[in-house]
Amino acid sequence: MTLRDIADRAGVRVGAAAPIGTLRADETYRSVLVREFNAMTPENETKWLGLQPSPGEWHWDDADYMVDLADEHGMQVRGHTLVWPHAGIPDHVRDATDAHQLRSWMTHHIQTTLDHFRGRIPRWDVVNEPMHWGEGRLAEGSFLDLLGPGYIAEAFTIAHEADPGIELWLNETHADVLGGKLPELRRIVEEMLDADVPLHGIGLQTHCLYPDFSPNLPTGEHLNGIVQTFADYGLDVAITEMDMLTDPEQPDRLEAQGALYEELVDAALQVDGCREITFWGFTDGVTWINEIFSPDRAPLLLDADYEPKPAYDAIERALQRRAERFTTGPS
Ligand code: XIL
Repeated sequence: MTLRDIADRAGVRVGAAAPIGTLRADETYRSVLVREFNAMTPENETKWLGLQPSPGEWHWDDADYMVDLADEHGMQVRGHTLVWPHAGIPDHVRDATDAHQLRSWMTHHIQTTLDHFRGRIPRWDVVNEPMHWGEGRLAEGSFLDLLGPGYIAEAFTIAHEADPGIELWLNETHADVLGGKLPELRRIVEEMLDADVPLHGIGLQTHCLYPDFSPNLPTGEHLNGIVQTFADYGLDVAITEMDMLTDPEQPDRLEAQGALYEELVDAALQVDGCREITFWGFTDGVTWINEIFSPDRAPLLLDADYEPKPAYDAIERALQRRAERFTTGPS
């Protein structure tokens, strides 16, 4: 039984991010991805920088390859991401100085992208990381400076008008471990809902980057509370980018990693409104962690030879519990 078999029985998505280079070049990588997962997030290929690096210069090939592959294997794609105020955007967007120009670029980018993928990508992270990385306030940058905080609602409204049939998500990082972020995220969400902005879901990235980037580890109890908080607004909630650093010096690190993965994924899946767990990759051989952090941090479910780690078994058990609960009905 694969992860996707169990996820299908549970009525949830289990996804992985993947980069186009490895996907095109490595048959084993590709076959494990489509065997184990029923959802996929292009790691960089549907970002603004990936799709339209300069005004009017569109690169569809890589993203189309991924969407076609997903379609062929019955996987759903999560579009990531239309507007990311401080990364994954071309220089001309980041350095914009004219509000009218930036608004017109944003409108055109969203409309053209959603037109292209109409009927093929059912949900998009419309705005990614609207908040400052480590603090409970909006991220600085051209969008906030020129368009004001309303750019978030504007992006959602443009997306909804461009394609009323898709789910529109707000995706944020580290709201689970950095104290000031959760209240601010709630404020943003409440303001959007009060103004009837078309918002369908909240993505919690859930990168577990302790201790390098994060002062503490998340706990299941805390994550469960956060997922429930957003579900209580009537929104869908997803874990969208999960991975977890380990310490190469710790002898039982893979077991400890498996235990925390299980605690967190269980905690999220206990909430009915959480119907997606996506990992930011699936093999320790192919992960952004290998580029950004020190070597051998082993953040994912399979080792570099695609052998299952304790983390894989942990996720299998967590999905299994959701499947059992699903067949017996919510408590
Ligand atoms: C990362 C990719 O994994 C890298 O390949 C790229 O160089 C930078 O972006 N939060 C996000 C993702 O929302 O888009 C980021 O992906 C990881 C952090």
